Amino acid sequence: MQKVDWDWENLGFQYRRLPFRYLSVHKDGEWHEGGLTTDSTLHISEASTALHYGQNCFEGMKAYQCKDGSVNLFRPDQNAKRLKASCERLMMPAFPEDKFVEAVKEVVNANAKYIPPYGTGATLYIRPLVIGVGDTIGVSPAPEYIFTIFATPVGSYFKGGIKPANFWITDYDRAAPKGTGAAKVGGNYGGSLIPGTEAKKRNFADAVYLDPATHSKIEEVGSANFFGITKDNRFVTPLSPSILPSITKYSLLYLAKHKLGLETSEEPVYLDQLDEFKEVGACGTAAVITPVGGMQYHDKFIEFYSETEVGPVTQKLYDLLVGIQFGDVEGPEGWIQKVPITEA
Ligand SMILES: Cc1ncc(COP(=O)(O)O)c(C=O)c1O
Repeated sequence: MQKVDWDWENLGFQYRRLPFRYLSVHKDGEWHEGGLTTDSTLHISEASTALHYGQNCFEGMKAYQCKDGSVNLFRPDQNAKRLKASCERLMMPAFPEDKFVEAVKEVVNANAKYIPPYGTGATLYIRPLVIGVGDTIGVSPAPEYIFTIFATPVGSYFKGGIKPANFWITDYDRAAPKGTGAAKVGGNYGGSLIPGTEAKKRNFADAVYLDPATHSKIEEVGSANFFGITKDNRFVTPLSPSILPSITKYSLLYLAKHKLGLETSEEPVYLDQLDEFKEVGACGTAAVITPVGGMQYHDKFIEFYSETEVGPVTQKLYDLLVGIQFGDVEGPEGWIQKVPITEA
């Protein structure tokens, strides 16, 4: 496969328009036959619910170029399931799960020249989304929907790759206790812009959110889930109905237990017990695993393993996860789906 000649090592996390995307329309009660298109502009009604009432949701996933020339998707069936759950939360019709995975493969294949080469650390980021469209003025579900998938090559999300980053614990909430925190819907992210910007202004990588009801427990680390390794070697992630069920987090729970032999647990993570963790990390498709050097809460700084070095368990988990994603390490059955590349 002849790749385009781009500066793969310095891509950053930016949108770059690629030639092909997938589009399907839901009309008259069903999803119509979708397909690839070169038009990157959506033409929608000014009265679309996606614009007024937040009837939109999305996914984030990646395609990985392997050493042997093949291309991997990491657990795309899980993204299909989560998109369905997000759609249901907003009364939108879910896109069929098997068709979702096939459509993702079509987009990756069509843009194969833009999948960053193996060894650069960069990947092809894939963004599926569903939006409510058509003419609506009252607060009610839309008459029509668009499902589309675009892709764009990206480097590492948090600057510096796998180097520890510090985070700022914000007093803002990202989600209500029985709100939409567990769904990947646009509104959750609109509300995170102020805290995220404030964190970056203070030289932190991103904001950490506490549980909205009591502000005593850790919920999310920016656009990533929290994990920690306790001093007695347990792998712990927060249990809460208002955090996004991260596919990376569930993968790490499995790897920590079955490959590293650690005890694992999803349980409340109390702010005043953070010093029980010797290592802390943020995990997600974009963040991969970002070691957390420390967290600032009001005038207190809580340091974990180190602000400059990566903890040994975090490093092992990172090597396993990234090894599986890029095809260098055999993953558990069903985690990797190959994309048939037919574009020369
Ligand atoms: C708020 C939030 N939490 C966690 C995650 C991590 O989820 P995943 O591992 O499925 O990418 C993401 C990214 O999708 C996110 O936006």
